[in-house]
Amino acid sequence: MLSGKKIVLGVTGSIAAYKSAYLIRALIKLEAEVKVIMTSASCDFIAPLTLATLSKNPVAIDFIKNDEGEWENHVELGLWADLMIIAPCSANTLSKLTSGNCDNLLIATYLSARCPVWIAPAMDLDMFTHFSTTSNLNLLKQKGVRVIEPTSGELASGLEGKGRMEEPEEIATLIHDFFTPKSNLRNKTVLITGGPTYEPIDPVRFIGNNSSGKTGVLLADACAERGANVILVTGPTKQVVKNDSISIISIRTAEEMLTAVQKHWGNSDVGIFSAAVSDYRPEHPADQKIKKKTDHLSLNLIKNPDILSWAGNQKKENQFLTGFALETNNEIENARGKFIRKNLDLLVLNSLRDEGAGFGYDTNKVSFLLHDNKIINFELKDKRQVVEDILDQIEEYFK
Ligand code: CTP
Repeated sequence: MLSGKKIVLGVTGSIAAYKSAYLIRALIKLEAEVKVIMTSASCDFIAPLTLATLSKNPVAIDFIKNDEGEWENHVELGLWADLMIIAPCSANTLSKLTSGNCDNLLIATYLSARCPVWIAPAMDLDMFTHFSTTSNLNLLKQKGVRVIEPTSGELASGLEGKGRMEEPEEIATLIHDFFTPKSNLRNKTVLITGGPTYEPIDPVRFIGNNSSGKTGVLLADACAERGANVILVTGPTKQVVKNDSISIISIRTAEEMLTAVQKHWGNSDVGIFSAAVSDYRPEHPADQKIKKKTDHLSLNLIKNPDILSWAGNQKKENQFLTGFALETNNEIENARGKFIRKNLDLLVLNSLRDEGAGFGYDTNKVSFLLHDNKIINFELKDKRQVVEDILDQIEEYFK
């Protein structure tokens, strides 16, 4: 995701300007904030209204804002951006970038920008190989401008060759990778359990618990953000993942969760089991709704499978397994017992004794239990930050 990242997109006069619309859409999908500057030539190829609508911001074109007679503050725009990308970048704009010929708002913003600047050239093949273009490109590269090379294929002129602007999805991925620090979880498969389990009593009733499923979803999004392939096995939850690369397996009961885990654990590198699994389930769920005929009703409960223990038993040498524990007394001793019994590599311990930690809070105070009796205690933190701490700890293993 590119949440909080501010991107200025420059659009210049090229038939590839239509691709800018797709680029904006891809960036917005990644939650970037996008402001568009168009050269007047580009307005012949795509309507400013289209780009304004997609970017959710007014498009800047001239030094003076048309309707308000106000100065368009290019310095502010240049300083606002975390990244400026000109896509498509025409031969004309390319030449102005090297000469500093500041006859439009885009070049003025470029000259004011302190952020990284990228260009995605688009032009005909002979224009692209012309010595003017190649020397401009070389100069810009020397000065730190990143050039996204055009691809080869059929060009608007009907000629065949190098000059097509790189595809918008590909550019959006490059931008995403640029802002996402290299992670040891990249391309690793992470299996996460989350949420509660609901154990049926009859067709309309169940035994459940207060788990919101938030931690599982936060973990899944944070792992996907770090480039992992994520499988989230979750009990009923209202929480939604942001990242649509995450495979979600929705289950209700502990047995269904176990079946899903058994299917995927063998091919996973990391397991993070945060589900609040019902320890017991009704032994014989009724086929029909139970009627209130008697004053007392007893439910016979039997133990559910311990999913984390199953994964711990099956764990291979190169797999890393994380479990959670919520304790109310003898915290460290109980947690250490779980760490050993369930064959874990990391146990995240929550204590209900800590103010602001546990169910119903957005904050949590945890300790990590690791091999060799190592313990790391953390301060009270936002749950999101706790999730990042967990992933940082897991990454240590893959260093
Ligand atoms: N867990 C699991 N399957 C279960 C019960 C628990 O996978 N049937 C996992 C949880 O997702 C969590 C960890 O085991 O990561 C700890 O759960 P907890 O209920 O605290 O531990 P238990 O060993 O069940 O011990 P107790 O409830 O007696 O404290």
